[in-house]
Amino acid sequence: MNGKIDHWVGKRVWIIGASSGIGAACALQLLEQGACVALSARRRDSLEQLCQGQPLALALPLDITRHEQVRAASEELLRHWSRIDLVLVVAGGYQATRADSFDHEAASSLLALNVGGVLNCLDHVRPVLLRQGAGGIGIVASAAGYGGWSGTLAYGAGKAALINLTESLYLDLHPHGIDVYQINPGLVGTPAAAGHDVRMPARMTASDAAGAMLDGIERGQFHIHFPKRFTNALRLARLLPYRAYFWLIRKIIGR
Ligand SMILES: NC(=O)c1ccc[n+]([C@@H]2O[C@H](COP(=O)([O-])OP(=O)(O)OC[C@H]3O[C@@H](n4cnc5c(N)ncnc54)[C@H](OP(=O)(O)O)[C@@H]3O)[C@@H](O)[C@H]2O)c1
Repeated sequence: MNGKIDHWVGKRVWIIGASSGIGAACALQLLEQGACVALSARRRDSLEQLCQGQPLALALPLDITRHEQVRAASEELLRHWSRIDLVLVVAGGYQATRADSFDHEAASSLLALNVGGVLNCLDHVRPVLLRQGAGGIGIVASAAGYGGWSGTLAYGAGKAALINLTESLYLDLHPHGIDVYQINPGLVGTPAAAGHDVRMPARMTASDAAGAMLDGIERGQFHIHFPKRFTNALRLARLLPYRAYFWLIRKIIGR
């Protein structure tokens, strides 16, 4: 559904959310394979540490929830690079939110980060890709966006929005020569996942998750999800009538 990538040498990849976890692991794997990588996130010191001894890496700190900071970073990036081949929007956060102990402020700020932040990136990256008539954008949603789970009220709703958003992006942008990737990890052992109070079936390392993500991009897939034994179980559950879905999802997630 997207173009295949047979090597990363000289490819210019901007990873937003690259200071830890899946984004940092992607950055390191891409640098190892000869890509030029711009790493963004809020923690400048972590980004600079990852860039140390990496001549092809560039640290571009930003807060994704701040529209003007994303614009300034994209302008700075274009002063260094003449084009962008791939933007990976990995940044996001997790906080348990439940309907029986609802915290409006926590839910709103999680959605501002996980959805609003992606829209901020889209606003500044979309014109660059359209001008080029080439390149790609990958957005990390989550297997939690496939259907409702108990305890993930705001997180799941935000990730479901990203799943829908990437489908629209594909329909709108692919005819202009732009590749779009919807990336849905299952449970990955990272700082973000430390806040999960769900069972961790089929848990992956950040490095394996990054490998699966880049493999899907290289193959030109639109829908990249892993580990398959977990994500496919959730996708199958989605096809069931709701009575059966609610029963099964409690078994899979453990609450
Ligand atoms: N771990 C899982 O089980 C799992 C499962 C499915 C999907 N995901 C998704 O995968 C993505 C990466 O998460 P992860 O598990 O690798 O967790 P992580 O290690 O906590 O990484 C999150 C990244 O997002 C950045 N970030 C957070 N808030 C930001 C902000 N306001 N502006 C800019 N960057 C920000 C963080 O950097 P700074 O703190 O330096 O800003 C960090 O680089 C997230 O979108 C998450 O929802 C994770």
